[in-house]
Amino acid sequence: MSRNFEATSLRDSLCASVASAEIGSRVTVCGWVAKRREHGEHLAFLDLRDRSGVLQAVVDGSVDVRNEYVVRITGTVSPRPEGTINDRLVTGSIELTECVVEVLATAEAPPFQLDDRIDIDEQVRLRHRFLDLRRVALQDNLRLRAKVNRSLRAAMDEQGFCEVETPLLWAPTPEGAREFVVPSRLHPGEFYVLPQSPQIAKQLLMVGGFDRYYQIARCLRDEDLRADRQFEFTQLDLEASFVSQEDILAFVSHAVLNAAEAATGVRPESISSMTWAEALDHYGTDKPDLRFEMTLQDLSAVFATTEVKAFGAPTVKAIKVSEGAAFTRSRLDQLTEQAKALGAKGLAWFRITPEGLDSPLARFLSGEEAAAVANVDGAQVGDLVLVVADEYVLACRVLGALRVALGSPPVSQGPHCYLWVTEFPMFDGVDDEGHLMAAHHPFTMPHADDLDLIETDPLKVRSQAYDLVLNGWELGSGSVRIHRADIQSRVFKALGVTDEEAQSRFGFLLGAFKYGAPPHAGFAFGIDRLVAIFAGEENIREVIAFPKTQSGSDLMTGAPKSITERQIRELRIKISPKGS
Ligand code: AMO
Repeated sequence: MSRNFEATSLRDSLCASVASAEIGSRVTVCGWVAKRREHGEHLAFLDLRDRSGVLQAVVDGSVDVRNEYVVRITGTVSPRPEGTINDRLVTGSIELTECVVEVLATAEAPPFQLDDRIDIDEQVRLRHRFLDLRRVALQDNLRLRAKVNRSLRAAMDEQGFCEVETPLLWAPTPEGAREFVVPSRLHPGEFYVLPQSPQIAKQLLMVGGFDRYYQIARCLRDEDLRADRQFEFTQLDLEASFVSQEDILAFVSHAVLNAAEAATGVRPESISSMTWAEALDHYGTDKPDLRFEMTLQDLSAVFATTEVKAFGAPTVKAIKVSEGAAFTRSRLDQLTEQAKALGAKGLAWFRITPEGLDSPLARFLSGEEAAAVANVDGAQVGDLVLVVADEYVLACRVLGALRVALGSPPVSQGPHCYLWVTEFPMFDGVDDEGHLMAAHHPFTMPHADDLDLIETDPLKVRSQAYDLVLNGWELGSGSVRIHRADIQSRVFKALGVTDEEAQSRFGFLLGAFKYGAPPHAGFAFGIDRLVAIFAGEENIREVIAFPKTQSGSDLMTGAPKSITERQIRELRIKISPKGS
């Protein structure tokens, strides 16, 4: 007979499993008292909660248990009396009667009600996260996360990847965020760096012959926190040898689709793809949310010879906002301010009315220009058209941001639209010192057709880097890596990384490459983000057991905290007074 894994020395069933037990049998369950209701003078109903769900027990009114007491109840499985059946509960047609109640631990009244339907101040929830975790929503989210992890591991194992753990005490990595550093006691004045990702370690594993590596890896970055960013987060990180971009896309797609199936019960058929240039042109962003249309329309040709000064720019782009003609003037002013904050010189708006275009600029347009604006994206009476005229990339980005601000559905809504974005540019513009900046990281292989442009026209160089996007969130990034010293040194040169700097930062990787580096490529995606979208949560905090607040604190433990004088002495570090 197979072992009943639910049974332990203290109980023989989980609350929700009692539903399938035989009426009349005696069972013992354990859990927390979720609710107590008095029934007349002599009886009380207890809702007993454990990880599986809730079970009702009818107990003697004299039993001294309150909410959140931890109890063990032995009772007889009985049908609930007619009219008291609760269809919303798995155990809604039964209850335990003739109960023996044993208090395993008493509990103080919790500082907030552990009820998902009540909006609780997040600070209070985070301060008492151990209680917050008892709520069904968080239980569900973390169990969903575990399920996703399990499916990812299965997919990677199936594809021949080997799970390898890489160090947390490490040296700088090339992801470009600020790093968390750890002072070394044995080497005073020297520091470890917590890895922003296992990037270098996994490339070394390729040199080490592992061929296919993966890890559910904790990464640490000291960057501003947002809804989709924490200091610590988790990636599914992978790297493979003797592969091309297509192979990596196939490996990752298989893993992500597996996770989607595990999380939602439906396996999406495939993942669509577009180039970075197409994404920018149609959606004004490198992470298009394909749940809605509102694509960017190009009016540059129509406005090429315009007399209207505001439109005298290399690019004129527009979006249609369905039913936007009803926007008030102050809403339109707000949008204009938003566009300016993003770098635009201004924002032109046109209400489509039965009488024609309504806009301060309408009377300056030629007939052809007015007709083009009125027809943007098949606009109808009642719609609004927003126009930005500027340099190409800026015009695209500004309208892309307005598109998201005006059209984006909530995270919980709509289909899951996965998208590969490929052929990212190699360089992301120029830094304050006039050096090119790597769009991905400095080990990314340029597109084979663009190698000659590295020295002559670097901003035109496409890379073999790719992102995976889900509903407007960047889920992950990866690239084919440079495994040839000659190309690497040309890229470092373009980035303004001197030989000495390259040696001191990444010397061990470059040194290793001298001993036979296979062609390799990889990828990493954020598990926190993936699970948040599966769970319909706007903030990744909701899928992390013990997250930090926006300002980087852990309200429960109080971290970050000061350390003792002795620790400070041992580490030979000096703390300057605040404000100095
Ligand atoms: P990248 O820096 O793009 O690539 O990170 C990959 C993915 O990790 C997630 N992510 C985060 N999630 C939560 N909080 C954060 N602070 C945070 N930062 C990143 C995102 C992101 O898409 N080593 C490369 C991958 C590679 O080239 O193989 C890397 O780390 O979902």
